[in-house]
Amino acid sequence: MNALPNFENQTVGEAQQACVSVLKAAGLDAPVLEARLLLALTLGGGPERVLSARDEPLTSDQAERLADAIERRSNREPLSHITGVREFWSLPFIVTPATLTPRPDTETLIEAVLDHGAGGDVRILDLGTGTGCILLALLHEWSEAQGTGVDTSAEALAVARDNAAALNLGGRAHMVEGDWTQPGWDRNLNAPFDVVVCNPPYIPSGDIDGLERDVKEYEPLRALDGGMDGLDAYRAIIRQLKKLLKPRGLVAFEVGIGQAGEVANLLQDVGLVILAQRADLGGVVRVVVAQCP
Ligand SMILES: C[S@@+](CC[C@H](N)C(=O)[O-])C[C@H]1O[C@@H](n2cnc3c(N)ncnc32)[C@H](O)[C@@H]1O
Repeated sequence: MNALPNFENQTVGEAQQACVSVLKAAGLDAPVLEARLLLALTLGGGPERVLSARDEPLTSDQAERLADAIERRSNREPLSHITGVREFWSLPFIVTPATLTPRPDTETLIEAVLDHGAGGDVRILDLGTGTGCILLALLHEWSEAQGTGVDTSAEALAVARDNAAALNLGGRAHMVEGDWTQPGWDRNLNAPFDVVVCNPPYIPSGDIDGLERDVKEYEPLRALDGGMDGLDAYRAIIRQLKKLLKPRGLVAFEVGIGQAGEVANLLQDVGLVILAQRADLGGVVRVVVAQCP
């Protein structure tokens, strides 16, 4: 890695240029945008503050914090871990190393559920809730709905609870520790639900090593590793769907590239009817929606 610049005695504008050079040299795709975001984080305030403070000198404390942030990002630590927040469905979500950073692809799942679900006074189950982004985005849209988020990670659930509280959704969102591979895991869920949503770990184990450093070194492995063919979680959950869902209940899964057909087959094998396979903005089929008879 290149030597990091020392931002002592630099103006905001000078530091911004230096940050762009370091991030570019580290091979990041959007060095200008990321430099602005990290400077804004250092200064406090939004990205517009970087422009208005252009000619102001950084304090020593700001220079030190900026150097730390730039070093972390150059080492491919996700931006969301450095800023501690990521926007999803236009809502701010707290993110920590215990949670998968919400992805824009996952917004496709929200769109699919809103298109096919009736809304109203429904109960939603979110399996593998992580930051709680799927459940909380849906509760934000459906103001009378209630929901339960399940995860094996107590740390992730603590983040999901904080997110629910910060979004004023804590009264309608319940976060429950559980492992869908273990017998009796659903005992305290009060099933059946009207809607089940799930973005499970779906990367085939053998592909984890080839992922970007930002992902494989910093995102929780339990959020990524879907077993030998990536489909372990789908098999485990789909065989339990009939007891988790009400008659006519809806299920929506996010799927990895090329997995939609196999997940649709697994759903049909247990008697569900496929309602839609929905592509993300890049044209990749990302979501399978099905209904209980
Ligand atoms: C791909 S992440 C999805 C996180 C979040 N729902 C999202 O879409 O950003 C999968 C989540 O499932 C959780 N998980 C993995 N295996 C699980 C299991 N057997 N039982 C419950 N949760 C599990 C992980 O801890 C992780 O938070």
